[in-house]
Amino acid sequence: MRDPEVITLNGATFKRLISAKEIEDKVGVLAKQIRSDMGNAEIPVFLCVLKGAFVFAADLVRNYEGLCELQFLRMSSYSGANTTGKVTLYPGLDGEKLKGRRVVVVEDIVDTGLSMNYLLKDLRQYNPRTLELAAMFTKPSRLCHDVKVDYSCFDIPDAFIVGYGLDYDGLYRNLPAIYVKE
Ligand code: IMP
Repeated sequence: MRDPEVITLNGATFKRLISAKEIEDKVGVLAKQIRSDMGNAEIPVFLCVLKGAFVFAADLVRNYEGLCELQFLRMSSYSGANTTGKVTLYPGLDGEKLKGRRVVVVEDIVDTGLSMNYLLKDLRQYNPRTLELAAMFTKPSRLCHDVKVDYSCFDIPDAFIVGYGLDYDGLYRNLPAIYVKE
C-alpha cells in the first residue's frame, strides 16, 4: 500500500489522517467546481505558493479540464513546527501577467491565516480582475486573521500535518497521504 495507516520514519511514528484516495477524490471535485465557476470564456491563472502547494497545484491543474496558466511564488512564515509571526515574500512572480486576470492562489494550508491575509492584500497591487483562494487544508480552530477561503478540500483539527507537499523541517513532502506525528 502506498499510504499505510502507520509509518515510522527516522525513529518517529506517523499516523495517517487522510488517505491518498480521499485526497485524489476531493481534488478532482474541487477542480470541477472551479472549472464550472470559471465557465468557458475564462483562462484562470493558478498561482502556486511554494514550496508546500506544489503537489496540490500539480494535481489541481491536471484535473482542470480547460485552459489555464500556472505561476509560482515563494513565501515563508514557518520555522520547524512554529510560526515566526512574520511573512517574507520571495521573488519568482511575474506580476504583470496577473493584470486583469482571474487569479486563483493555490495554497497548501491556511493555519492562522497570517500568510494568506498578507499575500491576498499584497497581490492587489498587480490589479487582477478577481482574486480567489484555493487551500488544500484549513484549520478553522486556529484561524485568527481575516481570510476568505473560496475553495478548500479538507478542514482539519489543530494538529501539525505532513505529506502531500507539507513538510516538517524540509522532510516528508513526498508522502502521498496526510500524516500526523504521534
Ligand atoms: P499561516 O500563515 O499561519 O496560515 O501558516 C500557513 C503556512 O504555515 C502554510 O503555508 C505552511 O507552510 C505552514 N503550516 C501551517 N500548518 C502546517 C502544518 O500542519 N504542517 C505543515 N506546514 C504547516
